[in-house]
Amino acid sequence: MFRELYFDTAATTPLLNEVKQVLMESLDTYGNPSSLHRKGIDAQKRVERARQQVLRTLGATGRVIFTASGTEANNLALFGIAQKYAQTPRHLVTTEIEHPSVLETCRALERRGWRVTYVAPEADGRVEAQKVLAAVTSETVLVSMMQVNNETGAILPIEEVGTALKANPRVVFHVDGIQAFGKFKHGAKWADLYSLSGHKIGAPKGVGALYTRPNLTLEPMLFGGGQESGLRSGTENVLSITALGEAAKVAVEKRETALNHTYGLAQSLVQGLAQIDGCVIQRTKEASPYIVSAAFPGLKGEVLVHALETKGLYVSTGSACSSKGGHTKASHVLQAMKYSKRQIEGTIRFSVGSWHTMEDILDAVNIVQEQTRWLHSVV
Ligand SMILES: Cc1ncc(COP(=O)(O)O)c(C=O)c1O
Repeated sequence: MFRELYFDTAATTPLLNEVKQVLMESLDTYGNPSSLHRKGIDAQKRVERARQQVLRTLGATGRVIFTASGTEANNLALFGIAQKYAQTPRHLVTTEIEHPSVLETCRALERRGWRVTYVAPEADGRVEAQKVLAAVTSETVLVSMMQVNNETGAILPIEEVGTALKANPRVVFHVDGIQAFGKFKHGAKWADLYSLSGHKIGAPKGVGALYTRPNLTLEPMLFGGGQESGLRSGTENVLSITALGEAAKVAVEKRETALNHTYGLAQSLVQGLAQIDGCVIQRTKEASPYIVSAAFPGLKGEVLVHALETKGLYVSTGSACSSKGGHTKASHVLQAMKYSKRQIEGTIRFSVGSWHTMEDILDAVNIVQEQTRWLHSVV
């Protein structure tokens, strides 16, 4: 048996021990937070504590609306603002490299009469703040961009865009912070709306949140009992929300140490991979250390993923959601960066965890070297 080397943390993370502990302690908290009795109040307190934990990690004041995923948080942000102008659809600005939960929502809005500008990235995956700002017109009501790209790790200029948009209070600025929350210090600071997801930071899948700055109004997508400030009706998922709060608390406590450690790991990973014959590192200077994209032109990403798995190394092709259902769709992100078909097909993504060690990195690089050499010799 091989030692497991899980390098797919951008797809999802294992539960943190602290989260498991809190979940075990909370399993018998079955009250409905809307109930008036003690059981309800106990559940309500857990939800409110988690809300404060998330706000503290964001370093922001405002509201946190718990959702069932990062995808739902992104949908709520875009539809929630668009719905305010439903009578006279206007204009949105986003980028070509957003996650499908933003891009497909934009396409749904286009079908309802909205105009959307999709700003193209540079060849290295960067997005120029000036290009985003230049796309804003007098009709624009929302700009949506991610903080960290989930396929390349590129860090987008949310500070520059957010700061410039402050002079234009008509325009709401939404940041998809799903690959950044708990890992980088700022994010929500420059945003009116900020999305996050539990399973990227050691909480369970199926819980996320949308942060909104104070006094920002948006329309709900789910109607009912008026939970979550009337923006997301439905009895709260108390267990998962409690877990998300705990994961956020742990993340903020360890953030600086984790980030520094991960920068070291990413540097070694990039250096190690770059030594391998035929490997192309697809990385911009301003990139998250948690995500490293590499291509092996001439090999197929899916084949490589399985070949690495046989040695205990887990990575993904482009992004987890583009490799569903037994067939991989060519990455829209790498296509927007205008990479060749051959390079896109040969791409794999390593996503690092702060718990990894230098030894893990060296072992991972050795496995990649061995398996790519073997695949080149048989294809
Ligand atoms: C940048 C980004 N946005 C949104 C999502 C969707 O989050 P969730 O899986 O919680 O729906 C992901 C998930 O990979 C992501 O990486």
